[in-house]
Amino acid sequence: MAKNGNISTSVIKRLPRYYRFLGELEKQGIERISSRELSEMMKLTASQIRQDLNCFGGFGQQGYGYHVASLRDEIGHILGVDKEFPTILIGAGNLGKAIAMHINFGTRGCRLAGIFDANPRLTGETVGSIAIRHTDEIEEFCKEEHPVIAVLCIPKANTQAIADKLVELGIKSFWNFSHYDLTIDHKGIEVENVHLGDSLLTLTYRTNQLGKAEDE
Ligand code: NAI
Repeated sequence: MAKNGNISTSVIKRLPRYYRFLGELEKQGIERISSRELSEMMKLTASQIRQDLNCFGGFGQQGYGYHVASLRDEIGHILGVDKEFPTILIGAGNLGKAIAMHINFGTRGCRLAGIFDANPRLTGETVGSIAIRHTDEIEEFCKEEHPVIAVLCIPKANTQAIADKLVELGIKSFWNFSHYDLTIDHKGIEVENVHLGDSLLTLTYRTNQLGKAEDE
């Protein structure tokens, strides 16, 4: 039974990784796993895993470990993968098209319902099975389809204004790739700013440290 009230952001950020690893185990036909085995796979301590999962009510049994499929189902449920949040994507350039094509929205609780771009030359072009619509159509689309998540793949200049407008149209959550750290003051709005370059910089830092260690 989940008891997810005030769960820390760091625990929540680890859940997708648990979900992914458990999915791999399920694919390999593994039915149960101890926290020690899971910790070795995930490079976390067993006590960290027990602590994390206890935030949601445990799931494990002394002497048995975790039932892989049930634990994955529970975590998936907490993450909302069994939902079908209507989602729109704004900006059908290189990045927007790649995300629309390569992110499996359906297995992550989202249904990509519409793709929009300000460039009229892209209107009608299809990405996968979805035709790109002109941004002029967003308002009407939102009134009819009630999307709640927006993926922003637009240049940073207009991101804040566009996001504010989308909030007025009912968008509750932003997956924002626009290289602008979006902040929304309205209560009840969630933002996930994504900067792939930040991940690369953590790697360059670590690579840099390797070089220093070799020099010593
Ligand atoms: P792109 O130039 O190929 O595509 C941008 C698209 O947005 C164009 O089709 C353009 O017509 C459209 N657009 C511009 N203003 C718009 C508006 N107000 N409403 C709707 N559509 C609009 O650029 P690309 O490569 O797809 O990159 C998009 C953005 O994502 C850029 O700002 C880029 O810096 C950023 N980016 C962010 C990454 C990250 O890790 N966060 C990684 C790669 C790119």
